[in-house]
Amino acid sequence: MVHFKFQILLLLIAFVQFSYAVPQKLLLSVYYESNCPDSKSFILKQLQPAYHLLHEYVKLRFVPFGKSRSINYGDDGFECQHGSAECLGNMVQDCALHQMKAESDKNKLAYVACEMHSEAGSQGRLDCVEKSNLSSEQVEQCVTSGQGTILQLESEYFTSLVKPKFVPTITINREFNQEMQDYAQVDLIGTLCSILTDSQPCARYYNYLALNNLLNTQTRNIH
Ligand SMILES: *[C@@H]1O[C@H](CO)[C@@H](O)[C@H](O)[C@H]1NC(C)=O
Repeated sequence: MVHFKFQILLLLIAFVQFSYAVPQKLLLSVYYESNCPDSKSFILKQLQPAYHLLHEYVKLRFVPFGKSRSINYGDDGFECQHGSAECLGNMVQDCALHQMKAESDKNKLAYVACEMHSEAGSQGRLDCVEKSNLSSEQVEQCVTSGQGTILQLESEYFTSLVKPKFVPTITINREFNQEMQDYAQVDLIGTLCSILTDSQPCARYYNYLALNNLLNTQTRNIH
């Protein structure tokens, strides 16, 4: 009898472990530029909803640099795809994200989305920094003291490892894959769910799409 109970207990433990196994998170890196319309649209329309759905399965890494270029190792500043305002915007974001190192990805994404939406940083405004409860003095100091230049040189180095042809570019677990890259621009949830096949949110998402599809087909047939 005792033995039997013990077996049930073991079964229960196995079941609990199986159903609550904490998934290994994917590392999603985003290489982007502060004033780039494609980066803005990707972060607001793809990354935000995807992270909302899949935050338990995804870790975020932001690299605000893109196709910028340092001049004289940053001694003479940077040259950016969308002009010098973009260089400032990239540096402000690097400085703020550095200050947010210990914060959640959710907070980091909220901050970056605010910047991409408003382009505040590239206009020298620190609204988004303040909205995220960061010290605007510290960010300002980072930008003017040379620390921001060092952070941007680091971002340049990380970006050079990926050599993006298109901005924004993503990598998953530090790997670039052209198919994933192209798919992510139009359907990041689908892209991540093609890897996270067994996750509940993906299953629910596909059920929802299938149901919608079915309803649409039926509506079409009625008309
Ligand atoms: C910032 O701080 C205020 C007041 O403490 C709080 O209500 C708000 O939620 C915080 N915002 C963020 C993004 O942490």
